[in-house]
Amino acid sequence: MKKICVLTGAGISAESGIKTFRDSDGLWEGHDVMEVASIDGWHKNPNLVLDFYNQRRAQLKEVKPNRAHEILAEWQDKYEVTIITQNVDNLHERAGSKNVIHLHGELLKVRSTKNPELVYDWTTDCNLGDLCENESQLRPDIVWFGEEVPLLELAASIVAECEILLIIGTSLVVYPAAQLMYYAPPFAEIIYIDKNPNQSIATNRKIKTIVGSASQCLSEIEAFI
Ligand code: OAD
Repeated sequence: MKKICVLTGAGISAESGIKTFRDSDGLWEGHDVMEVASIDGWHKNPNLVLDFYNQRRAQLKEVKPNRAHEILAEWQDKYEVTIITQNVDNLHERAGSKNVIHLHGELLKVRSTKNPELVYDWTTDCNLGDLCENESQLRPDIVWFGEEVPLLELAASIVAECEILLIIGTSLVVYPAAQLMYYAPPFAEIIYIDKNPNQSIATNRKIKTIVGSASQCLSEIEAFI
């Protein structure tokens, strides 16, 4: 089976009603990204950060996967599909995708602030005073700006083995996620689907760019692959 690696960003969940980061006002649901998605933001105001992710977790119950998520899940019957997502939602999994790597963590997990190995499934609010088994504060299991990306090496090794790299709905401005495409082997085809694609990607590799919504483009793309 053909090996397809799919790198997704906020744009793939936009049609499910989850806002992207950089499209409109530069704010994430009304907040400066650095306030709610950086380690400095956490140290400055943990209450605000916890409350923000509590709202995102609650929002997840109100949304569902869209056609783009579904198409990628259906492809598993025909291709070897691995999804590397920058999204912290669980819409790929809910659509049925089996191999999903969450580069930036997951909304439905929390972890100990002292020991990153202590990770717990979490579907409700997480507040100050909610502790891990070793009595330290829990925090969202999200990779914030200023933190290492623990799954980066694994993601790079998957991109390095793919035959097709499909990039969907990402501005490709956040590193190190944006540099993953450079690991694609020379023979791999790179296809980039986005409503408003980044025009200044620094590469001399040929990238086939398809402009449009993720669901529409994905429903038409099989002819190319
Ligand atoms: P961005 O908000 O930077 O980019 C979203 C992309 O999706 C843009 O290029 C839009 O043009 C495109 N888009 C919007 N609607 C679309 C649709 N219906 N179909 C296809 N494309 C569409 O989001 P990311 O690139 O995912 O990190 O942002 C990367 C990271 O920055 C996030 O994971 C997050 C953020 O700070 C953390 O929270 C750690």
